[in-house]
Amino acid sequence: MRVCVVGSGGREHALADVLGRDAEVVVTPGNPGIPGSVAAPPHEIEADLFVIGPEVPLVGGLADRLRERGGLVFGPGADGAMLEGSKAWMKAVLCEAGVPTARYGAFTEEAPALAFLDGMEDLFVVKTDGLAAGKGVLVTGDRSEAVDAVRGCLSGEAFGEAGRRVVIEEGLTGPELSVLAICDGGRAVPLSPAQDFKRLADGDMGPNTGGMGAYSPVPIAGGAVVDTLMDEAVLPTLEALRSRGIDYRGVLYCGLMFTPRGPRVLEYNVRFGDPETQVVLPRLTSDLADLLASAAAGSLGSAPTFDDGAAVAVVCASEDYPASPRTGDPIEGLEAASDVDGVTVFRAGVGEVDGRLVTAGGRVLTVTGQGATVAEARDRAYAAVGMISWPGMHHRTDIAGTVVAGAGTG
Ligand code: AMP
Ligand code: GLY
Repeated sequence: MRVCVVGSGGREHALADVLGRDAEVVVTPGNPGIPGSVAAPPHEIEADLFVIGPEVPLVGGLADRLRERGGLVFGPGADGAMLEGSKAWMKAVLCEAGVPTARYGAFTEEAPALAFLDGMEDLFVVKTDGLAAGKGVLVTGDRSEAVDAVRGCLSGEAFGEAGRRVVIEEGLTGPELSVLAICDGGRAVPLSPAQDFKRLADGDMGPNTGGMGAYSPVPIAGGAVVDTLMDEAVLPTLEALRSRGIDYRGVLYCGLMFTPRGPRVLEYNVRFGDPETQVVLPRLTSDLADLLASAAAGSLGSAPTFDDGAAVAVVCASEDYPASPRTGDPIEGLEAASDVDGVTVFRAGVGEVDGRLVTAGGRVLTVTGQGATVAEARDRAYAAVGMISWPGMHHRTDIAGTVVAGAGTG
């Protein structure tokens, strides 16, 4: 099988790497660090299967256009991708499907939005309705900060059109979990769960980012938790989509929080998570190309299988990520890091100058360590991270730290 992966980040590198075990893979546009990268646009590429990585082309209807040309495509059409393209629409679908989620209101006018904030308790959550590259969510205990965020959004100043409608939610607390479900329109099978570290700095401090690290599997998310999530969230959501005439073939990424009052779905994304993909897929022991092709064809078979080990991923980011990442610095130590036993270095925001890889984005590399336990995987990942450098490079030092401390082996 020849597979075309669309996208250019660490997630797409991991997809290409794992698909490459069983298939021939090209990546468009990819980046200079991802083998098989080609400049040709997707519609000029001959492939048996297209796998679309990022949300922007999905929301923009790339899957529809490739399907119209007869392609087999893993990724929802623009209709299903609205789950990520409009948080207000997603919340409406969640509520219609009876999925437990945070109480919310959606607003385009300031007065009712501020009145809704008045009814909230001590944690305020303000989200842009539209896509904002992972930056459109503010969680704060400070009401005046929430009011400023609402004003900044609705005026269009903070996020342009994406913010002209806001979703305000009750603030929830508890550990989070990411479960990626592979869907074929009617059926769905889960991948092994992962936990993501969204805040920039150690101890979950600093601003939200796209994700600074992840690990898989997750001790709090055994098989029964995943089964319940599939029965009570993913399948009812697919049903609600079908009742709207939407045939959802792709990943449904379910972001969950275990609150004191039970699990709640915080969000759906319509794509693989980044960096969750870089810890989940390397542990896959079944054939990824077959899995995604069968979902794309509407004929999903048995659930995928995973090894008994663990994977831990640490993101190496540029100076000033996420605000204004500095770029253009040569990356040192990549080869030595890649040689560490059990380690894969996925290339995300990288470019090439004079034959050398240089930083070209905020999240530059995802360093994934695999091992028999979370502790071993973590040690390997950090050993490799220690060999990599460029001016201003930073990373979190506590990815999966509490799992190792609390559960010994994870
Ligand atoms: P989202 O993009 O909607 O997942 O939001 C990004 C992050 O913001 C989530 O992973 C949570 O850490 C946090 N968050 C989102 N919604 C809530 C909420 N209702 N209460 C508390 N934290 C939230
Ligand atoms: N790591 C979070 C996301 O992919 O949205």
